Amino acid sequence: MRQTNAIIVKNVTKHFGKLTALESVSLRAQQGRVTGLLGPNGAGKSTLIKIMTTLLPPDKGDVSVDGIDVVSNPRMARTRLGLAGQSAAVDGFLTGRETLTMVARLYGLGAKQAKKRAQELIDRLGLQDAANRQAKTYSGGMRRRLDLGASLVATPKVLFLDEPTTGLDPRTRLQLWEIIRDLVKQGVTILLTTEYLDEADALCDYIYVIDKGKMIIEGTADDLKKSLGQDIIEVKVSEKNLNTAMLVLSKMLKRDVETDELTRRLRLQTKSGADDLLKVAATLRKAKIKVEELNLHRPTLDDVFLAVTDGGSN
Ligand SMILES: Nc1ncnc2c1ncn2[C@@H]1O[C@H](COP(=O)(O)OP(=O)(O)OP(=O)(O)O)[C@@H](O)[C@H]1O
Ligand SMILES: [Mg+2]
Repeated sequence: MRQTNAIIVKNVTKHFGKLTALESVSLRAQQGRVTGLLGPNGAGKSTLIKIMTTLLPPDKGDVSVDGIDVVSNPRMARTRLGLAGQSAAVDGFLTGRETLTMVARLYGLGAKQAKKRAQELIDRLGLQDAANRQAKTYSGGMRRRLDLGASLVATPKVLFLDEPTTGLDPRTRLQLWEIIRDLVKQGVTILLTTEYLDEADALCDYIYVIDKGKMIIEGTADDLKKSLGQDIIEVKVSEKNLNTAMLVLSKMLKRDVETDELTRRLRLQTKSGADDLLKVAATLRKAKIKVEELNLHRPTLDDVFLAVTDGGSN
């Protein structure tokens, strides 16, 4: 089957004063699929989303959505795309129902049609109980759903979701994932940004990782994990032992060992998993360091992310 690209971004560059927010970034999103844009804070995700959705012009480069050049033809492009942005666009004084009806009216639907569309979306997003309350009384999860609802009013062919599940509890997150999967089943193309690697793993057919305005790696979740190649050994020790553990293990392996002070974990890549695991255990015992946890696992997207980004410094 021939695959078409619903989004094509070619060599987009964007500066804010002296800051290069995006540097010659390119991306393609297949029609009817979920494409993920992953990156730490300040990587440039929202900037790219704003450019793709006509809210911000690029300094250089080309962007097309559903075959339409968004730079030269933003009005037309807007008829094809929906956006649920990172900061809620929904006005808290209106009820959920009023918000959706108003957006529908803005899109040119008549009063009766607009009401009908609002009801459809309320049902689809499970907002029945909250529909007649002011949105400012909504929980974070409800607000996200309402935001998503507002972006769906015009039945967009291409939907942009900027961190759709940030700050949601695990259950609400899963509900949102279901809504996203449902949209995909109906043929909607989705581009989402996320900082949650499990989310990218669960939802995205293809993933781009961006850091400091540059695209650094792309592929399916499996490709990305394979690119790391090696298994990971993780050791958790007490805070006072963290430094000593790092020193003895670095010496034993003759290379640096990554340390996370917050989680008190040491992480090392290994080619000979089980052998190294035993060596790590023996070395730590010899140094009289008590091990709280020790495990060997295949690389996850987290490992890829930590290996390819600079750890989100900004
Ligand atoms: N309007 C603006 N004016 C100046 N600088 C900006 C503007 N918008 C974004 N930036 C800067 O551009 C860089 C990229 O920001 P962006 O919002 O795209 O990051 P992000 O990947 O969405 O981060 P987050 O995960 O925190 O949402 C940051 O350094 C940010 O401070
Ligand atoms: Mg952002």
